[in-house]
Amino acid sequence: MLTFPKDFMWGCATASYQIEGSPMADGAGDSIWHRFSHTPGTTHNGETGDIAHDHYNRYLEDIALMKDLGLRAYRMSISWPRIYPDGTGRINQPGLDFYENIIDALLEAEIVPFVTIYHWDLPGALQDRGGWANREIVDWFGQYAQTLYARFGDRVTNWITLNEPSVVSKRGHLDGTQAPGLNDYWAALRVSHNLMMAHGRAVQLYRASGGDGKIGITVNVTPQHTASDSTEDVAAAERNDAFLNRAYLDPIFKGSYPDVLPAWFGEAWPNVREGDLDDVHSPIDFLGVNYYTRQVTANKRGAGVVDAQQVKQTGDHTLMGWEVYPDGLHETLDWVRDTYGDIPLYVTESGSSFKDSFDDSGAINDNRRLEYLQSHFSAAHRAIQDGVDLRGYFVWTFIDNFEWAFGYSRPFGLVHCDFDTQKRTIKRSGHWYRDVIANNGF
Ligand code: FCB
Repeated sequence: MLTFPKDFMWGCATASYQIEGSPMADGAGDSIWHRFSHTPGTTHNGETGDIAHDHYNRYLEDIALMKDLGLRAYRMSISWPRIYPDGTGRINQPGLDFYENIIDALLEAEIVPFVTIYHWDLPGALQDRGGWANREIVDWFGQYAQTLYARFGDRVTNWITLNEPSVVSKRGHLDGTQAPGLNDYWAALRVSHNLMMAHGRAVQLYRASGGDGKIGITVNVTPQHTASDSTEDVAAAERNDAFLNRAYLDPIFKGSYPDVLPAWFGEAWPNVREGDLDDVHSPIDFLGVNYYTRQVTANKRGAGVVDAQQVKQTGDHTLMGWEVYPDGLHETLDWVRDTYGDIPLYVTESGSSFKDSFDDSGAINDNRRLEYLQSHFSAAHRAIQDGVDLRGYFVWTFIDNFEWAFGYSRPFGLVHCDFDTQKRTIKRSGHWYRDVIANNGF
């Protein structure tokens, strides 16, 4: 039996555009994901978040299900264009009301809300003004965050500024596989820095708001292993580590970027102004880590922007093509503590996508997902035994949802959703998770 610390925050995570549906309802503006998914050729079968699993209308049913699972915490995100349809200026009250209703229902169900301020659905109106590539976004984001603190600060005590800034930069602006779908090398690097600046601003404004809760950020960490011991491969893995992981963690915790990055990118590296890094370095209360897999990296000229090639491993892989590698979570949690200090950590996402099917009795026996959870919970437990201050674990995800460019073809949920009838069915992994939470271990 592995027992977790008392008050361990067992939860699930979701994101607004992936679950809500009704993206344009009640005065909302369009988001870059609404535009992207409505652009032919961008998503699997042209699928969109127009309906998703209709959380917008069924959040009470969903929160009842969360309560049934025994969740102690729920990580959700707020859709910026529901609050600011024009990006800045006019506030759309029905948008705030919608989230207020959710937050109140969660509190009523004794589920602690962890609110992500930005999980990728930028107002389209701000994209028209340059989006994340425009440094003015630091002000826009600050204003938006302040509005949320003012309305929800008395009830929400756990805030996450951004979800996975590296993905916003890389997928959104470098390879263009996610919204806003740009292929702009120079902009992508600027976007990274602007994201960090916006994060720092939101932290400072939270302190200024007098909020007595906690604020942090969620970063996806992908440990880099080397394909061989050659100097070239080792250097490639180090570069990729700097580019994907440390480009975000170093400025937050150390107030500097890894030296290898400006050296590698040269003139394309963004203009970091005096004082910028002090702002980014504003103290945070916790770090959220998203962990899905590791990468085994080799040096290869022209592979990606840092000459780093992924070498496919022979073991088990999920439907995403990601290697199942639980030891990487243990390694990551220990590494974060050893590199950046003893800060409270949460696993803010971890989970797996596998094909599901109903058996004759109408059950979904998703054993591979269950095993994935079990092996990753064990890895997290090993980190706790090493003394890592891990406070909670949010499974990605509560219910099958819109997996970005993959549309509905990558189910990650503990709960299945029939998208024709909107019927929800708890999978075997969900039943098992309920027991884990009830026993605070397994
Ligand atoms: C993460 C995202 C999340 C989901 C999972 C599978 O990168 O934060 O929204 O798509 O991957």
